[in-house]
Amino acid sequence: MNLFDVYPLFPQELVKAEGSYVWDEKGNKYLDLYGGHAVISIGHTHPHYVKLINDQLGKIGFYSNSVQIPIQKEYATKLGELTGGYDDYQLFLCNSGAEANENALKLASFHTGRKKVIAFSKAFHGRTSAVVAATDDKSIIAPINETDNIIFLPFNDEAALEAAMNNEIAGVIVEGIQGVGGIQIPTDSFLQKIRSLCDKFGALMILDEIQSGCGRSGKFFAHQHSGVKADVISMAKGMGNGFPIGGIIIAPHIQAKHGMLGTTFGGNHLACAAAIAVCDVIKQDNLIENAAEIGNYLMNELKKFDAIKEVRGYGLMIGIEMENYADVRKALMNEQYILTGVSGKQNTIRLLPALNITKAEADHFLKAFDKIITKLAVTN
Ligand SMILES: Cc1ncc(COP(=O)(O)O)c(C=O)c1O
Repeated sequence: MNLFDVYPLFPQELVKAEGSYVWDEKGNKYLDLYGGHAVISIGHTHPHYVKLINDQLGKIGFYSNSVQIPIQKEYATKLGELTGGYDDYQLFLCNSGAEANENALKLASFHTGRKKVIAFSKAFHGRTSAVVAATDDKSIIAPINETDNIIFLPFNDEAALEAAMNNEIAGVIVEGIQGVGGIQIPTDSFLQKIRSLCDKFGALMILDEIQSGCGRSGKFFAHQHSGVKADVISMAKGMGNGFPIGGIIIAPHIQAKHGMLGTTFGGNHLACAAAIAVCDVIKQDNLIENAAEIGNYLMNELKKFDAIKEVRGYGLMIGIEMENYADVRKALMNEQYILTGVSGKQNTIRLLPALNITKAEADHFLKAFDKIITKLAVTN
């Protein structure tokens, strides 16, 4: 049997990983500033993470949501404490980012009895039915996913939002920081406008923090930089440090009903053990503070390069927009053994390292970047 060929792949096979490093099958060691797409939050194969998953596997790895699973409550408590202001919210666990957003939109629709959702240009919310329709990329929307229930508006355009809001809108979905869209940050006043219009029209404000959450932005959620609170927040990626888990946290005013949402695998024992390990390490090692500190350092240093058109980001979610971004990224990988992410349509290299990246590792990247820019004679 062959694999269904949907991914353009690099030739490397990764066979080992530790902290911020991965090794390929030839023994080459890479500094990982990509984290398998913002997934690696506490570093590869962190000992506490490996121990909690192993211990749990020896006890019980899975049972469905038909019995008591106290480890879910333990996780909810630890997560609530870390979020800085959302400890009175309710947690629903699932398996991926798309599924988290799908449930968020479904919940907004159940809660309000409405069908329409507002999403924004350059948004990426996943590949399942309602959320792929809310993703601003026609090439991944199949005919079966087409719907007129999603209204796209220009990102950061308060006037357009004001004009479009009405009492048919179930929810407004926005990323804490747009990731696939090239690290685009919603302005404080844009998020505040979404909040006030959702309040005015009885719609839910849904924050997609799948990429920007779990401490990556230097706050637990990126939207907390803007001083707003959302009704529903979706999470995945960094939540399990590679173990598949997603979830939404839900405001206390939204009532649960048996059968309203559900999943077989969501919230299984192993996934919760992984997510608890992530919370423990983020807390013990002050990784949110580290993300803010190293992120600021990296962004300030990157802004000194004339070859860069713009540096955007918060914490360790950094976009470097430049001509020749693809050549620079390739040279970083093949000559300097540094992995980075990309937003091709926005000419942007994306840095999404583990939250415990050190200053020495950041400096190593900056030196390597300088070498490549000089060698390729990149100009702005
Ligand atoms: C902001 C955002 N939302 C949703 C998703 C979809 O997550 P998943 O691939 O886990 O379904 C992604 C994935 O890149 C994302 O970046």
